[in-house]
Amino acid sequence: MTAETGYVGPHLTRSGRTSDPWGRYYTSPEVSRSLIERINVPKPKLVLELGSGSGALCAAAASRWQAARLITVDTDKHLSVRECAHSLGQPTQHSHFVHDALDEDLPNKIGLRLGTVDVAVCNPPYIRPRWRADFGSILEDAGLSGTLVSLHDAGADLLFLAQNLRLLRRKGKLGLILPDGLVTAERFSGVRRALLRQHLIEQVVQLPRGIFKGTEAQTYLAVLSKMAGETDQLTLCQMGPDGQLSSAVDVPQELAAKRMDYAFHAQAISAHHLQDGYRRIQVGEALTDVIRGSICSSEIGGFPTAVFHLGDFAEPDGENAIRVVPKRFSLSDRAAKTISRNAHLALPGDILLARVGRNLQNRLALVVHGPCVISDCIFALRATEEHRERLYRFLESEAGQRARATSAHGVAARFLSKQNLLEIQF
Ligand SMILES: C[S@@+](CC[C@H](N)C(=O)[O-])C[C@H]1O[C@@H](n2cnc3c(N)ncnc32)[C@H](O)[C@@H]1O
Repeated sequence: MTAETGYVGPHLTRSGRTSDPWGRYYTSPEVSRSLIERINVPKPKLVLELGSGSGALCAAAASRWQAARLITVDTDKHLSVRECAHSLGQPTQHSHFVHDALDEDLPNKIGLRLGTVDVAVCNPPYIRPRWRADFGSILEDAGLSGTLVSLHDAGADLLFLAQNLRLLRRKGKLGLILPDGLVTAERFSGVRRALLRQHLIEQVVQLPRGIFKGTEAQTYLAVLSKMAGETDQLTLCQMGPDGQLSSAVDVPQELAAKRMDYAFHAQAISAHHLQDGYRRIQVGEALTDVIRGSICSSEIGGFPTAVFHLGDFAEPDGENAIRVVPKRFSLSDRAAKTISRNAHLALPGDILLARVGRNLQNRLALVVHGPCVISDCIFALRATEEHRERLYRFLESEAGQRARATSAHGVAARFLSKQNLLEIQF
């Protein structure tokens, strides 16, 4: 191992050389800057780049975080970061190590402790190294062992990701360039599910094809905050060839585990839920009121009128059917006036859904015939005319059921808070 200490500057990418015959696709200054800008950390003390190549990412990092200590690692002895040291404008403290980034003992070799890095940036090599025992330990430490159907699927991209996770501190940020496989392939859905459950993946940006010279491969930028909570909803967007970002879509965890590419989800959303001209909004924006029932289950039997409760929802009957609250629950206007002194009522046009219960995502109904009394396990959503039908159809759809399921909390007794409900996007 050799260690070099020097300075890095803003012009580290070798001009005119963005790829080589060994599949090492170097990041352009624009993409590097875009990734670094997305990492929301004002003053990291320690920034790491594994597989630093000729230093495009660490140069962008050094120019943003000028006071940070920077550590880079690459096996390629010919890619000397020192050659570019003279171009440095800022006095960043930098150590470069020529070493195998996938050595289990890397922390000792580069003088770091596990779990200490504030920010890691990485554009991993897209190769599949011959399997070694230390890869198993690296995956295990990163909480990713058992997520692969076959160990043959563990490419350098996944192993670099895992090694970065080992080295990052809790709530440390990882900014990655990812290949299409990890983001969309079925065989990596276990990896994606584990990452979404263990970490806060802040965003995934689909890059334009051809952004890495010499390859048409589809790639992505991703920013993850280590163990900063579960990713309930993943924010996806797409960068156009002009560098402009599309509007974002939020995808619930279960769907994000299936795939994390913007193009797929944006297409699915427009095909299934949004008619032309609609923009995605939060449920809260479509409502004038949310009424929570006031009659608890022990009071239902003794209540003078029928009370709509969890068991009264009809079974789902396909995305196009509308489940209507049966007539026997509806009150005359006079009765409603009297009862409203003692109980919260749902009114015609209100959308009823369960706020508690194991299968709360399956329970939905529309009030049509007249006002009705609802139990305290039910929310009545009073939507504006403009949004009512679309909101009902969304909540009845598979995506709407998933959104309710993933927004709910609790393991045995699940419940959907008003706040979480209002924040669901449709
Ligand atoms: C895709 S290139 C990225 C280079 C640079 N980070 C960038 O974004 O332009 C991957 C880099 O990883 C290096 N590399 C490949 N295997 C490695 C290993 N086992 N340990 C350390 N570096 C490795 C390659 O030499 C190459 O420079």
